[in-house]
Amino acid sequence: MRTAMRTQVGIVGAGPAGLVLAHLLQRRGIESVVLENRSRDYVEKRVRAGVLEYGTVQLLTETGVGDRLRREGLVHTGVELRFDGQGHRIPFDELTGGRSITVYGQQEVVKDLIRARLEAGAPLLFGVADVSLHGVDSPTPSIRFRADGQDQELQCDVIAGCDGFHGVSRDSVPAGVLTGYERAYPFAWLGILAKAPPSSEELIYTYHERGFALHSMRSPQVTRLYLQCDPDDELAAWPDERIWDELHARLATRDGFTLTEGPVLEKGITGMRSVVLEPMQYGRLFLAGDAAHIVPATGAKGLNLAVADVWVLARGLAEFYRTGSAAELDRYSATCLRRIWRGQHFSWWMTSMLHRFRGDDEFGHRLQLSQLAYVTSSRAAATTLAENYVGLPLG
Ligand code: APR
Ligand code: PHB
Repeated sequence: MRTAMRTQVGIVGAGPAGLVLAHLLQRRGIESVVLENRSRDYVEKRVRAGVLEYGTVQLLTETGVGDRLRREGLVHTGVELRFDGQGHRIPFDELTGGRSITVYGQQEVVKDLIRARLEAGAPLLFGVADVSLHGVDSPTPSIRFRADGQDQELQCDVIAGCDGFHGVSRDSVPAGVLTGYERAYPFAWLGILAKAPPSSEELIYTYHERGFALHSMRSPQVTRLYLQCDPDDELAAWPDERIWDELHARLATRDGFTLTEGPVLEKGITGMRSVVLEPMQYGRLFLAGDAAHIVPATGAKGLNLAVADVWVLARGLAEFYRTGSAAELDRYSATCLRRIWRGQHFSWWMTSMLHRFRGDDEFGHRLQLSQLAYVTSSRAAATTLAENYVGLPLG
């Protein structure tokens, strides 16, 4: 026996894409049900990136889920690029007409959205199992899953596949429909969260002979740090002492920068790759966020691209329910892909400029130094970095 329910939009996944979509739809009077296979505790504690573009902050604030973000988020009006033992600041505000970014952990955004949804009494189910999609090429698609020991079916008008890179939505698209474009990088990031006050007020992206390093933060008491490592490295090969030694070496400056250490609260290795799947729609299934594309973390674009996707999707769904026209929905994929490819290019460019490539390619090394010197000395080149980093306008 399968229990049946109905909604307008079935959303698979309660990451930033699924939760922001549910929130935007609710504000437009469109019903949705969010299905998440992990527990609430797990998704709220999952440590990910933490840079919000200007437009992402505006969207969250204007739609009523930005109070804590405004209170606790750290507004940054620039970043530092460090190479050759020297720091160079890129002033975002000056180069982009007053724009900035906000440092606020992705899981904090997720927590705020979950709370808002549950307080509104809107459906969001955690810990569901065996999620599968049916009839996505028909006008009556459905999602089957198991919750509370009971087989259930959610009938919908439309399904949003917001289930990340390892989700199941994509697999419901017949073979041959999607084309994948991919670039793998020969390195990964080792990230730590340390209970130590940040050693600088701003993010520091460092290019060093020993590899890339990034100084970021989560609060005045917590620093987030990353190191370029080998993609095959195991965490066991990186005891805390080795991590700190490496961070000190890579972040060192000629004028004596000091990095404050503290207890390591969290540690993890993330692969670096670029992936785009096209198109992002098949019948009544719309893919959004990591389910359709992955960017290397160097450009801090992952969450922001996910939010931009669902903003476009919510607009298309609003038109669909208001007028019955699917014209805007049918443009969903093409509209999103323009921004996604810009984000892909920016992320690839930042990644290529800032990482040490294997094989001691001296020619490549000198090209990277030349690029860094140009970006930090030409207003035109710095503006390119700044406007992409703070984010191009939505829509
Ligand atoms: N059924 C239900 N939920 C699922 C399933 C499934 N079969 N598979 C995965 N999920 C859930 C995951 O547990 C996760 O909570 O879907 C959610 C997808 O969320 P994210 O991976 O955070 O992806 P997205 O919402 O697109 O956000 C993109 O996340 O990976 C980061 O850097 C990336 O910042 C970017 C952001
Ligand atoms: C982070 O704070 O986690 C962070 C910041 C900038 C990046 C990636 C990650 O480019």
